[in-house]
Amino acid sequence: MTEATLQDLVVSPDSPGAKNFPPFATSPELEAEADGRISHYSESKRSAVLPLLHIVQHRFGFISPEAVEWVAAKLELEPIKVLEVVTFYPGFRQYAPGKYHIRVCRTLSCALGGSAELMADLCKEFGIDRESADPHHHPISVSPCGKYSVEFAECLASCGTAPVCLVNDDFHEGVDVEKMKKACAE
Ligand code: FES
Repeated sequence: MTEATLQDLVVSPDSPGAKNFPPFATSPELEAEADGRISHYSESKRSAVLPLLHIVQHRFGFISPEAVEWVAAKLELEPIKVLEVVTFYPGFRQYAPGKYHIRVCRTLSCALGGSAELMADLCKEFGIDRESADPHHHPISVSPCGKYSVEFAECLASCGTAPVCLVNDDFHEGVDVEKMKKACAE
């Protein structure tokens, strides 16, 4: 696959959240970390695709087309195979989130607990326009300042304390907008 074709397939629009993360670039540290993970899969290094994508997302905030190419080259895979993994798992992002990325559970208990209204209130509070984006290709909506972003998530496994959210990697139960404002000010 040519790079132009890959760029066409990857959802990677400009995001105001890009200012929160360094642009993708290889480095001796990145190569060493990746090689360390690959060494755990000596019988089939393609099995390291998930760990490598996690490393990339942790360091750079999302999986860019350049990162897809790099992971593919490390694992001797076609880039489309790596892209298939990125698009299959909702946890992988194809563009930069805000500094505070809020995932709002929308599964049954949280839906009954008001997650749709919570999402609307969060968008209003943080100046996020979710309405104009195609949620299939652009599940993450980012505020113009790049500080906040929101995304719906499926069951976060705390159905008794709905509605629940993740703010980056931190879990919050019985959420309302005031709690989210506090969590995003820390
Ligand atoms: S339904 Fe929201 S945590 Fe299970």
